[in-house]
Amino acid sequence: MTTRNVAIVGTQWGDEGKGKLVDLLTPAFSIVARYQGGHNAGHTVFVNGRKFVLHLIPSGILHAGVTCVIGNGVVVDPEALFAEIDELRREGIEPVGRLFISERAHVILPYHRDVEQAAEAARGDRRIGTTARGIGPSYEDKSGRRGIRMADLADADPDGPLGQTIRANVCARNRTVDGEELDWRSVRQDLLAAWPRLEPLVADVSRLLDDGGRKGRRILFEGAQGTMLDLDHGTYPFVSSSNGTVGGICAGLGVPPRAIGEVLGVSKAYSTRVGGGPFPTELGGAFGEALRESGDEYGASTGRPRRVGWFDAVVVRHAARLNGLDALALTKLDVLDGLAEIKLCTHYRCGDQVLNDVPASVGRLASCKPQYETMPGWSRPTAGLRRFDDLPVEARRYIARLEEVTGQTVAIVSTGSDRNDTIIRPGSAAARWLA
Ligand code: GDP
Ligand code: IMO
Ligand code: MG
Repeated sequence: MTTRNVAIVGTQWGDEGKGKLVDLLTPAFSIVARYQGGHNAGHTVFVNGRKFVLHLIPSGILHAGVTCVIGNGVVVDPEALFAEIDELRREGIEPVGRLFISERAHVILPYHRDVEQAAEAARGDRRIGTTARGIGPSYEDKSGRRGIRMADLADADPDGPLGQTIRANVCARNRTVDGEELDWRSVRQDLLAAWPRLEPLVADVSRLLDDGGRKGRRILFEGAQGTMLDLDHGTYPFVSSSNGTVGGICAGLGVPPRAIGEVLGVSKAYSTRVGGGPFPTELGGAFGEALRESGDEYGASTGRPRRVGWFDAVVVRHAARLNGLDALALTKLDVLDGLAEIKLCTHYRCGDQVLNDVPASVGRLASCKPQYETMPGWSRPTAGLRRFDDLPVEARRYIARLEEVTGQTVAIVSTGSDRNDTIIRPGSAAARWLA
């Protein structure tokens, strides 16, 4: 393996613009690999005015000839996968032949969605606000050692291990979910019917990546969700059920740590989150509403309005440390165009304590008061600018201050959703990756 590989991870609560960055960097790589999550992700890419939203398939698929892999750490809903393949085909892109799914990847089945719905309803006010895709229950089955993996699907014997596992899981679902019972035979039948279409995609992904690395092929690791949604390091329990931080790469693809190379963190120039859980810099009222509208902050997967807030350097420092970031990509700077003032949270106050790190307890985080610096906004638009020196001086100062308070270098500034609305800073890590 070479160390010329790069990982792209979200530093906030997801939706930072990872899809756009993956699409932008893909030309310098041969393989793009997803290592965790599932079709809860929504990665939006605009190419020449055409919009693509990828959920399960790596965003690199939009580039002809690039191999895309879905690692064992991803949970795969066959129906969602087929829908995505069909959608790409309608757009003239053929994924089959260059899309590979780990034989160790777990499957999401209809009972996972039912169990999730029941669990969310039971939580009442404390519901997580999940994407309702069955992600959590599928990972629960995996850790509970009753999950079903791609490699198990060739088992046509109804009394074989696959049939027995489905039967036990559907019985458990019928005990916990009110309403109509599910018939395990029909679940099994549907899965068997899906197998011929899945089989040509299934591969030994760890081997594929190792072989690729030996041949000098560069790998781009595509993170989903964000650091604050990481099962261990996020705002637990208001998180997703996998490790979106770089720690998930080795386990989720079967690659050694030295395969990771460098790490790019993606941060919005402000913050957003979808679903429940603490969000210290959240903005309510008319101002929050206006920011949501100008940023078009509606979920790419569920269409839900995203909560919005100021940039939180405590969160991004947390992400920088956990992921060992080499550089930051700052997205959606243009959304702040025209604001008279911009606030930036540098630390929290919690009772009489000053906190520079994210507290582990979600209750404590909820009681933290963000401490802000206020900076002047800019009146000349940044939208669509492609040279750093063309940015208004106030925007450059805002970026410089973000760099100071996060301890990171901003290598890429994104000024619009299109691939080309991007500033790659000369001499930065990103310029080197693309050279
Ligand atoms: P991801 O989940 O991290 O890939 O991000 P999403 O695709 O869910 O959300 C990011 C949204 O912001 C998408 O609609 C992008 O098209 C859009 N976007 C990305 N970068 C920029 C930018 O610099 N400016 C603007 N205005 N939109 C952007
Ligand atoms: P991308 O990759 C934003 C959130 C959900 C919910 C929590 C748990 O597009 O950044 P889950 O269905 O995963 O069990 O939901 O995580 N969530 C995301 N929020 N972007 C995502 O992915 C997300 N994936 C999950 O809204 O709060
Ligand atoms: Mg998204």
